[in-house]
Amino acid sequence: MRQELFVSDEAVRPAFHFTPARNWMNDPNGLVWYDGEYHLFFQYNPLGSGWGNMSWGHAVSRDLLDWEELPVALEHTPTEAVFSGSVVVDRADTSGLGGDDSPAMVAVYTSHDLLTGHQGQSVAWSTDKGRTWTRHPKNPVLDIGSTDFRDPKVSWYAEGGYWVMAVALAIERVVRLYRSDDLLVWTHLSDFGPAGSVDGVWECPDLFPVAVDGDPARTRWLLVVSVQEGAPAGGSGTQYFVGDFDGTTFTADPSTEDVSWVDHGADYYAAVSFNDEPHGRRLLIAWMSNWDYARQVPTHPHRGAMSTPRAYELRTAGGRLVLAQTPVVEGLPGPVHQVTSQPVCDGVHPLPEDFRATSTVLTLELDPGTASRCGLHVRAGDGERTVVGYDAGERTLYVDRTRSGDTGFHPGFGAVHSAPLDLAAGEPLVLEIHVDTTSVEVYADGGRVVITDQVFPSPGSDGIALFAEGGNAHLRRLTSARAPAPGPAGRTGRARP
Ligand code: FRU
Repeated sequence: MRQELFVSDEAVRPAFHFTPARNWMNDPNGLVWYDGEYHLFFQYNPLGSGWGNMSWGHAVSRDLLDWEELPVALEHTPTEAVFSGSVVVDRADTSGLGGDDSPAMVAVYTSHDLLTGHQGQSVAWSTDKGRTWTRHPKNPVLDIGSTDFRDPKVSWYAEGGYWVMAVALAIERVVRLYRSDDLLVWTHLSDFGPAGSVDGVWECPDLFPVAVDGDPARTRWLLVVSVQEGAPAGGSGTQYFVGDFDGTTFTADPSTEDVSWVDHGADYYAAVSFNDEPHGRRLLIAWMSNWDYARQVPTHPHRGAMSTPRAYELRTAGGRLVLAQTPVVEGLPGPVHQVTSQPVCDGVHPLPEDFRATSTVLTLELDPGTASRCGLHVRAGDGERTVVGYDAGERTLYVDRTRSGDTGFHPGFGAVHSAPLDLAAGEPLVLEIHVDTTSVEVYADGGRVVITDQVFPSPGSDGIALFAEGGNAHLRRLTSARAPAPGPAGRTGRARP
């Protein structure tokens, strides 16, 4: 039974994370909901499994879980690479590009000129639900003569009644804000940065309001910026700033910390948001990889996977606002296996056969007790395991992927990634862990501490074990909701037959 559920035709195909059927993928682009469909566009090489020939791939979903991959939306040309950007539904037809009965979906993306290296912002539109696209004759509509000016994120600023674009001046480590009434003519508003992490170039900025403490009446603004170097787990990562936007300028709160990271793992980059209109929430999806080794990742025929969609909100903690993330995996079944109340003595304790899974959502409540380290081994098998643990001495959550499977494709891949996690005396470790064929995403402290890491275990490494070191821990509860097999459309980018 288990075999039927979990064996896929390709051993490295995630069960509940989007991958294209084949070829290279990086950043999510143009996330938008329109008329019953979620659209995910993405940086895509239609011709191969390495970065290049950048185009916008396209997939649609009705539930954010099962995706149908459609033909490439925006193809590269001999002179233009289609870099990252965003899509809006122009309901009021501010651009005049809409059809008689249907508003235009308008894509604003970076045209990377392959002859000159210039990067400008261009427009394309679709009046058939994103199936076909027309490039605007005036492209690029925003050109400042720069070679590092990219990744426009456009949204409707309701208070002002105009469109706002956040776009990166990558080398300067600056996010530039523009406004427009028609998506075609853009006026410079202000600049933010350099600030926070400036070790690498800035890419994929996104500015949006978020609720504080779950109260939609109290909102602040988040500016999310990806950075190519210097993230906590090495290489690329995603930082954020909390502040206010007055229609012209984003002002970050003075922070006691130097840098705030969205995720402490190695594989969470280019996170961009979209309005989940049916549910009245804003979700983000990131590319689950790292520029340090993305080109060497050992999967075939696809290379690149997206994160689970996550809802971001701000919580008040210790007198300041911190980001909290809730993963969205609606459609996975409820808990199917559970163990409760048992001691976890010093050592490693494999769970029963029923728990074996290569794709599952685990929830864990574990009292660290006297253990110096405790937690779970996932994707465990013959000499392989990915350790998700709490270190009581260091007061950290960590993911150890040094023996997770294939780590040899890059010298930096086999490493331990950790994040500060303070448990009060007697407080249990409470984790939600999303294990999939080639990744783990670990949420602690109600989503305030997150580690996202790719792993490449053997397909047969499907064991789960509890462990304690240096003392005894106590399990309160562990549940496993295994991912069902993909439906006919696949969660995987396989096109419908
Ligand atoms: C981020 C990025 C973007 C660029 C795209 C090119 O990962 O470098 O800045 O638009 O990828 O594929």
